[in-house]
Amino acid sequence: MRRGSIASLIGIGVLAGGIAAAVALALPWLPTPASREAGRIDFIFWFTVTICIVIFALVAAVILYSVTHFRAAPDDDSDGPPIHGHTGLEIVWTLIPTLLVTSIGIASAIVLSKDDALGKNVLHVNVTAQQFAWTFSYPDAKNLTSATLMLPKGRSVLLTFTSKDVIHSFWVPEFGQKQDTVPGIHPTLHITPDRLGTFDVICTELCGLGHSTMRSTAVVMTPAAFDTWLNGQTKAIGSPNAGQAGAAVFKNNGCGACHTFAAAGASAKVGPDLDKLKAYAQQAKQPLDAFVRDSIVKPNAYIQPGYPRNVMPQTFGQALSKQQLDALVQYLTQPSK
Ligand code: CUA
Repeated sequence: MRRGSIASLIGIGVLAGGIAAAVALALPWLPTPASREAGRIDFIFWFTVTICIVIFALVAAVILYSVTHFRAAPDDDSDGPPIHGHTGLEIVWTLIPTLLVTSIGIASAIVLSKDDALGKNVLHVNVTAQQFAWTFSYPDAKNLTSATLMLPKGRSVLLTFTSKDVIHSFWVPEFGQKQDTVPGIHPTLHITPDRLGTFDVICTELCGLGHSTMRSTAVVMTPAAFDTWLNGQTKAIGSPNAGQAGAAVFKNNGCGACHTFAAAGASAKVGPDLDKLKAYAQQAKQPLDAFVRDSIVKPNAYIQPGYPRNVMPQTFGQALSKQQLDALVQYLTQPSK
């Protein structure tokens, strides 16, 4: 091979690799990680992408060089030389991919085992998914429930999932992992948040009419701020303020994911507009309080015209205590009175 050919091969390879690298680096393919696990997963991603760019540059260089230098003349009908294998070349093109794929496999196995290894002082959070809301509860803190996933920075968190109805999927892009929630089993997911901030919790499994509204928020706080929040919340469980109790039930059960209700700042449109309960009750020819209570406990008994049947969960009758239900009915009917 002439020195000029090697130079032009290298030139084409560097150009092709440079273009591929620019596309990989210039576009924001992945969010900035907010957990140690996501950081390790990102490493695997870039490790693999780097290998791919090098191979792409190599292949592009050989193809482009061959197309320009070995093009047959239009009137050249002769056959190419009869070549039967090349043992050295075959060993090289088997060995190199084997080494590359094996190295990706080993690096991935290390990352997976590190990501699964729980740290000390694990924070347990039970995540409940239902059409169309997320609820987070803290079994170590009197089962405190929250519609927002509050997490301390730097601590190992083990999420345990329960689905009340269909398959949902938990995803916080910045945490780098997804987990399906499947009725009947309780999968877990380990995360160690390492960046303060507010992140979207997204359902990424088509789960029904309100799928796109099934969102919540994850807040990563300093450990001190988290403890303050947790202590304040657990105290509030012991002495529920009558006015706030209904608002808390509304928030913690994700009512705002499907309904509009001005008092709660909710504006979703999947289910009936709760600012119009008085008019709905008159349409249904029922007293307001009884109408609202029945609509929560037996949602299919009466369907407000224009809204779908079987979308409102039928589990609130069992899930809510009498006090919670009373507080919720009072909270919902207050603005109409
Ligand atoms: Cu739950 Cu989509």
